[in-house]
Amino acid sequence: MTVDHAENKAELNGVCEKLDRSDIQRLSHRFHRYGIVTVTELIKENVRDLLRKEAERLLDLHAERRDLRLATTDNTRRSMSVVPSETIANDSELVRRLYAHSELTSPLEAIAGEKLHPCPKPDEEFLITRQEQSGDTHGWHWGDFSFALIWVLVSPPINVGGLLQCVPHTSWDKSNPQINRYLVDNPIDTYFFTSGDVYFLRTDTTLHRTIPLEESTTRIILNMTWAGTRDLNREFDADDRWWDDAGVSAATSVER
Ligand SMILES: [Fe+2]
Repeated sequence: MTVDHAENKAELNGVCEKLDRSDIQRLSHRFHRYGIVTVTELIKENVRDLLRKEAERLLDLHAERRDLRLATTDNTRRSMSVVPSETIANDSELVRRLYAHSELTSPLEAIAGEKLHPCPKPDEEFLITRQEQSGDTHGWHWGDFSFALIWVLVSPPINVGGLLQCVPHTSWDKSNPQINRYLVDNPIDTYFFTSGDVYFLRTDTTLHRTIPLEESTTRIILNMTWAGTRDLNREFDADDRWWDDAGVSAATSVER
């Protein structure tokens, strides 16, 4: 099954709302202070609707369940269904076109204050996650690359969980993550997003997680990752790319 490419092309003529310089500056200040900024106002509603339908289509075709703990983040939990990066890239012209669209990347670069580079690792460009069972969570972690745009496509009500928590201005030592030390030493910011919201995250220096779901419900996000210039020549030694392969050596499987 393929999406209607002609329709996508026509509808992608406009991706973003025009924000003035003072709006971009406000978002940029917030991004640097908190490591995260909500950019829903930047993106046209019909694009967010199209992407929700596309993510639901990709999940119907390709979802794979993950239930594991990850050694490189102090054994925090990952419990959700995923569609891996290369599956998304191969099957979704809409996602590929949006990711490369200058109308999207230009304002994000203005907010970041630096250039966004396409992710050098094809297994980490994109990710769709669907939390669905009581207890599902994306436990405390950082990203390998600097920037992520997260499209919150379906979100449960605030009392059900799935809230995002962030500790900005922290860093990831995969051999000694010290997550509890960061939580003790710093304030934790908690965010609720409603279906259709989009946020921009400084993923490599913002420790973050989702609060476990209190009951079975549906929470779907799509992640687009970009590298900063600083990331381009880094080596990635740890075998912890659990979204791509549940059998990585850093993962311990968890029975539900
Ligand atoms: Fe993340």
